Amino acid sequence: MTAFFCQECGYESAKWMGQCPGCKAWNSMVEERAVTGGKKMGLPSRPGQAGEKREPSRLSQVSMEKEERIGTGIEELDRVLGGGIVPGSLTLVGGDPGIGKSTLLLQVCQKLAGSGHKVLYISGEESLRQIKIRADRIGEFSDYLLLLCETNLDMIKDAIERIRPQAVVIDSIQTMYSEEVASAPGSVSQVRESTGIFLQIAKGLDISIFIVGHVTKEGTVAGPRVLEHMVDTVLYFEGDRHASYRILRGVKNRFGSTNEIGVFEMREEGLREVKNPSEYMLDGKPENASGSVVACSMEGTRPILVEIQSLVCSSSFGIPRRQAIGTDLNRVNLLMAVLEKRIGLPLSGCDAYVNLAGGMKITEPAIDLGVVMAIVSSFKNRIVDDKMIIFGEVGLSGEVRAVSMAGQRLQEAKKLGFTSCMMPSVCRKGLNPIDGIRIIGVNSVQDAIGLL
Ligand code: TYD
Ligand code: MG
Repeated sequence: MTAFFCQECGYESAKWMGQCPGCKAWNSMVEERAVTGGKKMGLPSRPGQAGEKREPSRLSQVSMEKEERIGTGIEELDRVLGGGIVPGSLTLVGGDPGIGKSTLLLQVCQKLAGSGHKVLYISGEESLRQIKIRADRIGEFSDYLLLLCETNLDMIKDAIERIRPQAVVIDSIQTMYSEEVASAPGSVSQVRESTGIFLQIAKGLDISIFIVGHVTKEGTVAGPRVLEHMVDTVLYFEGDRHASYRILRGVKNRFGSTNEIGVFEMREEGLREVKNPSEYMLDGKPENASGSVVACSMEGTRPILVEIQSLVCSSSFGIPRRQAIGTDLNRVNLLMAVLEKRIGLPLSGCDAYVNLAGGMKITEPAIDLGVVMAIVSSFKNRIVDDKMIIFGEVGLSGEVRAVSMAGQRLQEAKKLGFTSCMMPSVCRKGLNPIDGIRIIGVNSVQDAIGLL
C-alpha cells in the first residue's frame, strides 16, 4: 500500500496533490510505501504505555527527586541543554552541512568517555578512517568511546542493546534506514520511522541519544516538524561558514529554557568554547567612526554586546536600497519610517545598510535604539561616543520603551570597560547605580538624537 507524504512536513495523503495542505509547500508530495502491519508510523508508544492501565495521581503525590544530569564538561552546551544531558533524552542537533555538527558531537563523546561514560558514536556518513582523522585533530580519546559505521536500523538497535552505552550519537538521521519502510533513506517516512525507533530505545533503555539532522535549503531539517515534535530537545547549530564563530541555539527543550545560546569558535583543533562572547563580537570595532554603535541584547540569561554598523548614502535610483544583515529588514524599514516621520530626517532618498558585526543574528527589539543611533550617526556623519552602549525599544511614535534586565546589561558594559549607557528613562526606576557607568536616560528618539 502506498501513500503520498509531504517531504517538508510529513503530511500524509491518499492521493497526490500539487500543494501540501499541511504546510502549503508546492510540489513536495512524494509517493512512498506506507508501513504495513499494526504499527503506525511516527507514533512510537512510550515505554509501559501499551495496554497498561494507569490510575491518575495527585500532584502532591508525585515524587520530586532531583533529576540527575550528566555534565558534558562543555559549559556552553550544558547551558543550552539546561544543565547537562538528561538520561533517556532524545536530542536533535540540526544545522547546515559543514557547520560542525559532527565535530561538536565527537567532542561531546570525547568528554563523556573521558569522564568514564560508555559512549557509542554511530556514523552513517563517514568511514572509521575519516572519523579517526577528525578525532586526531581534536585530541586524546578514551577507550570508553566506541565507533560504529552502520546505517541499518536493526543492526544499530542490536548493537545498542548489546553494548548498553550511556549515550549514543547518530550521525546523521538522514542516512539511517529501516527495512520495514520501502522508501529511500532521507525521505520523510524513513526519517520518522528511524526517529521513532531511537525514541523507543532512549526511553526504554534510559540511554541519551543525540541525533544529527541536516537542514535543507529551505532552512528546515528534512521531515522537520515531524522530527521536532518527537524529540525532547532541538538544538540548532548556526553561524556564518566563512566566520569562525558558531552559535548553538535551543529551539525546543522539555528539560529547560529555550532562550539560551552557546557560543563556540571553530579552530584547527576543533570547537573551542567562547566564554566571553561580547569581547569576541566587539573585536575589531573601529574607533571614532560614524555609523558604528554598541548595543546590548539579552540572549537568554546572558547579555551580549554587539556592534551595529550602518551606512546611509544618497541613492542613485528611484527606489532606495535597504539591506540588513543580522537583524530584521522589516524592523529596520520601520525604524527608518519613524525617523522620517517623527524627526523629519529625509531618508526616503537614501540607501541604507545595517550590519551586525561579528555575524550575530539578533531579533530582540532592545537593539532598536542602537539601530536608530547608527543610522542617524551615519546620516549626519557624527560620531557616537565609543565608550557608550545603547539599548531600548523604539515605538511607532518615536517613544523609547522599557526593556527588561537593564541591570545585567549595565554589568556587562562595565565588565568590558564602557563608561556610559543610553537607555530608556523608565528603566532607571529601581535600578541600582553602577560605579563608573553614567546613565543617560532618554524618553524618545528626539531626546537620543539631540545628544548626538
Ligand atoms: P563537520 O563537523 O564535519 O560538519 P557537519 O558534521 O556539520 O557537516 O565540520 C566540518 C568543517 O569543520 C570542515 O569544513 C572543517 C572544519 N573543521 C575545523 O576547522 N577544525 C577541526 O578541528 C575540524 C574537526 C573541522
Ligand atoms: Mg557531519
